[in-house]
Amino acid sequence: MRCALLLVLAGWGVLAQEDWIQRAMNCGTHCSQGLQCKAKRHLFLAPCKREPALINSTLFHNLNISTVMKCEKKQQCSLHLKVTATVEMTELLHGLSVCTLSAGMLEDCRVVTFPRMARAKLAGQLVQVQDDCFEVSPNQNVHVMLRTFPNYCDMTWSQVYRVQGCGHADLRSHVPACITGKIAYAVDMDRQEISVRVSDMLEDRNYHLRLCHRWDICTGTEAYILLKREDHFKNATLQFSSPLPCLCIEGWSSMVDAPRVQVCPFKNRTAELWSGVTFDPEREALSWEPGCPVKAVITLCQREGESDCEDLANSTQIVGRKKVTYAKVDPHPSLCMKFTTDAGSWIKCPFADRNFLAWDLTMTTGQGQPQAALASRIRTKLSLQVCQKGERFECTKITSVTVEKMSHVSVNLPGDICQPDVCIRVRRADVQFSTHVLQCHFQCTRGELYLCKGIFVSAFTCVTLMIVAGLVGNIVLTVYQKRRAKRRHASYRQFEHTAVILPPAAAADSVDHAQQSSRDLKLMLGLDVSVTLTDLVKEHDQQSLSVGPLQASCG
Ligand SMILES: *[C@@H]1O[C@H](CO)[C@@H](O)[C@H](O)[C@H]1NC(C)=O
Ligand SMILES: *[C@@H]1O[C@H](CO)[C@@H](O)[C@H](O)[C@H]1NC(C)=O
Ligand SMILES: *[C@@H]1O[C@H](CO)[C@@H](O)[C@H](O)[C@H]1NC(C)=O
Ligand SMILES: *[C@@H]1O[C@H](CO)[C@@H](O)[C@H](O)[C@H]1NC(C)=O
Ligand SMILES: *[C@@H]1O[C@H](CO)[C@@H](O)[C@H](O)[C@H]1NC(C)=O
Repeated sequence: MRCALLLVLAGWGVLAQEDWIQRAMNCGTHCSQGLQCKAKRHLFLAPCKREPALINSTLFHNLNISTVMKCEKKQQCSLHLKVTATVEMTELLHGLSVCTLSAGMLEDCRVVTFPRMARAKLAGQLVQVQDDCFEVSPNQNVHVMLRTFPNYCDMTWSQVYRVQGCGHADLRSHVPACITGKIAYAVDMDRQEISVRVSDMLEDRNYHLRLCHRWDICTGTEAYILLKREDHFKNATLQFSSPLPCLCIEGWSSMVDAPRVQVCPFKNRTAELWSGVTFDPEREALSWEPGCPVKAVITLCQREGESDCEDLANSTQIVGRKKVTYAKVDPHPSLCMKFTTDAGSWIKCPFADRNFLAWDLTMTTGQGQPQAALASRIRTKLSLQVCQKGERFECTKITSVTVEKMSHVSVNLPGDICQPDVCIRVRRADVQFSTHVLQCHFQCTRGELYLCKGIFVSAFTCVTLMIVAGLVGNIVLTVYQKRRAKRRHASYRQFEHTAVILPPAAAADSVDHAQQSSRDLKLMLGLDVSVTLTDLVKEHDQQSLSVGPLQASCG
């Protein structure tokens, strides 16, 4: 069996000694020095009174608060505050009061009193008073106040204490409000299923298990199962469709307000999110919808060579949970999307397989002049620049041409294109986001332009591909990502591009389209390359082209 099994125990291990919460048998009050102190609940504390004899004296020396657990059964433990105060005995001090206050609750006070005889005997000595009868709940924020009894002014000590939350392993195992059950799972990627085993759940309850997508809340998928309390094996197998980072296994006991456990097996698979890129050729809109909430920066870029992708101006968008759309994008193979998160950077090139290629540039020669042949499948406007390589790469616009649907235009180029380090750069001018095509190093002899065979071959291939793409017509491109094990370890993936073309809905439509396209093909192949020639030097006033000023002269 080639499926990869991975068993993960969800987040619990051996408890360190200090992580144990102290156990208490019965709640009560204890005082040191053999003092027989007594405690009782107190509802109302008198306002404080001034006692001149106590000015400048310190009666409280220490206050320490901790949590203790009182257990009736293994899964029936409650939490209590243990308050330990160190006080200096004086005859004026009959005892002390401890009050707790939490948001939305009434103040709860206990008064601990010392026997009259002991007060005189122990005057001046330090006595430790301990009380652990305040019941609290997990994660509660408690304001603890210590006062003298009677209540002398300016003698109050107080402290805010936060009770451990259900994240604490000891609570998770023993306090019902925290018992969620523990989830262990194994993923079978080939079968797209997760085997889940539950342990340490509430013993006398049924148990729910499901898969959900965690956004603000966890929204359920179809995968759900109920484990009966009488079942011997507490396990189940759940199906998933896509290993998204926010896909979680959720489990809870059958009771009102039961705490839930969530384990997300794929939470590190950020790359999985970059599937779901779509392109609408009609509107030329490129969009991506996150499958999970994610904080990412998206930029369109032009792929340069194997590893670089140069950002397109003003194309950066920051996304969270909403769909990102780039209106008016040239679906050129070199136009890519760069996704950046805290976990790294990914580049996806949705058009890399040239299915959507709309136009192309080839270099030819006509009437002894170098020419740029521009073929297009759609009606578009192309902008041409001549660039000079040097210390800086400088480009000058020479012209813009409009190419009609399924036709082509040849543009005569200035002669200095034949010089070394001079290039021609073309991009679409009728869209918001486009990459450019750059061609350099033409070899001209006596005004002739010789092109290597390779360029012709690729030009032919390209035109053919464009026609093939035309057959498919108005379809939406869905990019999905093949899972590759090694990807998990790479923080930076370059040019992952696996595109799937969804077949058009109506078969009849595509047949029509195919016939139309093959007619177009014949038309295009029947045309001579130099059918629409414009000599920029001599005929710059020709109507069909808008020709910019020309600085360069033919050498
Ligand atoms: C309390 O202490 C202050 C300064 O430390 C002193 O000025 C004052 O006299 C003291 N009061 C008594 C009643 O001892
Ligand atoms: C408070 O009590 C705990 C446990 O009883 C002890 O570990 C800790 O040192 C005490 N802290 C202070 C400030 O006395
Ligand atoms: C649960 O575990 C038992 C024993 O390991 C196994 O025989 C059974 O097939 C499992 N059931 C499911 C639904 O995975
Ligand atoms: C996610 O990655 C972190 C750090 O690399 C690792 O500790 C954790 O176990 C991973 N989680 C899962 C579910 O693979
Ligand atoms: C980018 O946006 C700025 C400000 O909105 C604008 O001035 C600039 O021309 C834009 N650049 C491009 C290449 O669109």
